[in-house]
Amino acid sequence: MKLNLSADEVLTSTRAVRKRLDFDKPVELEVIKECMEYAVQAPTGSNMQGWQWLFVTDQAKKDAIADLYRQGWEMYTSMDQAAMNLEVENQAQQDRVADSATYLAENFHKVPVMLIPCMPGRLDGLPNMAATSTYGSIQPGAWSFMLAARERGLGTAWTTIHLMFEEQAAEILEIPFAEVTQIALITIGYSKGTDFKPAKRPPVETVMHLDSWGNRPS
Ligand SMILES: Cc1cc2nc3c(=O)[nH]c(=O)nc-3n(C[C@H](O)[C@H](O)[C@H](O)COP(=O)(O)O)c2cc1C
Repeated sequence: MKLNLSADEVLTSTRAVRKRLDFDKPVELEVIKECMEYAVQAPTGSNMQGWQWLFVTDQAKKDAIADLYRQGWEMYTSMDQAAMNLEVENQAQQDRVADSATYLAENFHKVPVMLIPCMPGRLDGLPNMAATSTYGSIQPGAWSFMLAARERGLGTAWTTIHLMFEEQAAEILEIPFAEVTQIALITIGYSKGTDFKPAKRPPVETVMHLDSWGNRPS
């Protein structure tokens, strides 16, 4: 089933879906493969598609990954947010995100499909160009996957918390940790309803610069 959204609608309504994820509706491998056809159209550095895409559907493995995620979530929420230098502009929105993210953490094992996009090599200590080329050669594809999923009535959320325990996750999933880096974990399931709206963001002029760092477009 496709929603027939316009490109602009897909781009402005692909939200992090957590509370409205339908844990009980199975996601067919067929629709995942369809989304992958769009993911692999994304740009990659030097046109090298070094990426690998690991989908987790086995319940015992999802349980084990969810345990790691919850441990990471507890660590993350106990960190001093101010010390992490996070400036919060919209506290109400931030509180809603925290509430929704806690819900996801508590129910992580129920997520129908988990996607872990992977790239070859370890990135620790790489110069900026090499690191960004690696991340940048899979993040556009992963986002395309999420956009294609949205068009098909699926809800996704980009997560990184399990990476606090990347090596343990690699063991569970038999990923060769020394040779392969996990980039994220994208949760996938049908959304309850499909009426997602554009998010409130600060005006674009506040993050734009024109010709020099100090010059803002009006
Ligand atoms: C790099 C990155 C890491 C993220 N990590 C997590 C995560 O670990 N857990 C989670 O629930 N959401 C995570 N998110 C989702 C964000 O919280 C979400 O995108 C943000 O709140 C904006 O919401 P929206 O996507 O619905 O506009 C992550 C997003 C990005 C881009």
